[in-house]
Amino acid sequence: MKAVVVFYSQTCGNTRKIAEMIALTTGAALAEIETVEDYGRDYDAVMVRARDEINSGFLPEIRPLSADLSEYDTVIIGTPTWWYTMAPAVRKFLRSTDLTGKRVYAFQTHGGQPGSALKDMRRLSKGENISDFMVEFDSMGGSQMKTSIDELRTWIQSIQ
Ligand SMILES: Cc1cc2nc3c(=O)[nH]c(=O)nc-3n(C[C@H](O)[C@H](O)[C@H](O)COP(=O)(O)O)c2cc1C
Repeated sequence: MKAVVVFYSQTCGNTRKIAEMIALTTGAALAEIETVEDYGRDYDAVMVRARDEINSGFLPEIRPLSADLSEYDTVIIGTPTWWYTMAPAVRKFLRSTDLTGKRVYAFQTHGGQPGSALKDMRRLSKGENISDFMVEFDSMGGSQMKTSIDELRTWIQSIQ
């Protein structure tokens, strides 16, 4: 398997942490989705902006990915949950990237209300959807993981 973890992480690095754990365990490469324009550190302002973007279907510009996806047959995509779905940057990535022929795993981090992020990602991805996983963190936007580490490890070990 030649795999890459493609992730977006904004608030406190929860999604980044899971992405790094997957990369460490499976030997996959890491590639971060970055927006051209930063959302800033003001949590409430990010909430408002995110809600407006999601309601209007706005997709932010993203930087070119550091990895060449044509080199990989397996792509693991991670997003934080934003307003019950994926972050707009991840939607932009999936809309502008053809994953046809690739094995796709997806995960989301969330604060207790996962919504339809994984279903929405599966619908957008043109790859072969293998499996997905939700990782719960505390509901205040913090970094305390609620999902059991054993459950998370079991899913990561299933990636192949
Ligand atoms: C704009 C915004 C919207 C959010 N919406 C939700 C939500 O709908 N459901 C939920 O459980 N958590 C929600 N959260 C919490 C994040 O999904 C959670 O803290 C996530 O782990 C953050 O990942 P990150 O640190 O990698 O950015 C939201 C956070 C932000 C900033």
